[in-house]
Amino acid sequence: YHVDWDISAAEKGGYDYFMMKEIMEQPKALKATISPRLDNGQIVLDQLKYTDEDIKNINRIHIVACGSAWHAGIVGKYVIEDLARIPVEVDLASEFRYRNPILNKNDVCIIISQSGETADTLAALREAKRQGIRILSIVNVVGSSIARDSDDVLYTWAGPEIAVATTKGYSTQVALMYLIALKFGQVRGCVSAEEAAKLVAELESVPEKIEQLFALDGKMKELAEGHANAKDVFIIGRGIDYAVALECSLKLKEISYIHSEAYAAGELKHGTISLIEEGTLVVAIATQDTLYEKLVSNVKEVKARGANVLAIAKEGNTEIAEVADEVIYIPAIDDRFTASLDVIPMQLFAYYVAVARGCDVDKPRNLAKSVTVE
Ligand code: G6P
Repeated sequence: YHVDWDISAAEKGGYDYFMMKEIMEQPKALKATISPRLDNGQIVLDQLKYTDEDIKNINRIHIVACGSAWHAGIVGKYVIEDLARIPVEVDLASEFRYRNPILNKNDVCIIISQSGETADTLAALREAKRQGIRILSIVNVVGSSIARDSDDVLYTWAGPEIAVATTKGYSTQVALMYLIALKFGQVRGCVSAEEAAKLVAELESVPEKIEQLFALDGKMKELAEGHANAKDVFIIGRGIDYAVALECSLKLKEISYIHSEAYAAGELKHGTISLIEEGTLVVAIATQDTLYEKLVSNVKEVKARGANVLAIAKEGNTEIAEVADEVIYIPAIDDRFTASLDVIPMQLFAYYVAVARGCDVDKPRNLAKSVTVE
């Protein structure tokens, strides 16, 4: 009697690729990242050795990272500026380290890295440190170089991530951006206790809402198969939806090799719209209530030029269905937390496009999980 024991299938928990396993692990990973930092609705960033005075004195935040971690940082800029009213700059590590950045006393540098080993990110950290500013890192791998060299570390408890294209790593980084923004906002008196309690409850609803989004799996597969031969894909959004668009576009490029670009929807008229041809796929992320009407107009503009539009909207916002070809709905949530939900259907979309094109999803050509050389 012989049992075929495929060790790699076992490691993938029955999924064809690690990427799918890791997509599905996101609710669990987010709970592990968020729950230990909440105590009776209060945010406790215990590994952060900042006093309230330190938080009040922060003058400016410099977020530095590469790839998807940089995209998580852009979400961070939107929410930290909004909730904590601290100016935030987001830099690519490979730019920051060589551009002679202006760092002042009372500035803080937030380094984001899943692996904690990315060469440019580590070099940027050392440059910031050399200039004497305090380093807070958001890292997944415990004891990694970036974690060891930082003054404070907040771990994303995502567990090991094997697929080159990050999913749960990114999602947990975004969750920490939210926790930092809320905590700093409260300490600095920009967010009332009542408002904070409401936002914390919203954040806690994210894992559950991601579970609900998994019901879109079949739909995303079908859409992906229909668009597997696309030449170019444009992904548009405003505000936080634009930050997510950057990440969705990178996912698609990384694993399916389809050319894709993310554009702030307001920039369409400054160039991108000339690239729209009959049938070009435009993904319109329209999940900011305050900017919804603007996105509806942008969808009309690209439709008029022949685009095929896949929109992502919040449940209940049905007006967009009248102008887009297809609409994917995410559960209702505060505008600030949409980043955690919007990315899920697009991870599935990128995954299924890559599968349909016969790509090696977990090990895309020319890419490495951790870029430890320059
Ligand atoms: C590589 C990976 C990306 C990742 C980036 C930064 O390019 O393929 O998925 O976002 O490195 O990695 P880090 O480990 O620093 O987050």
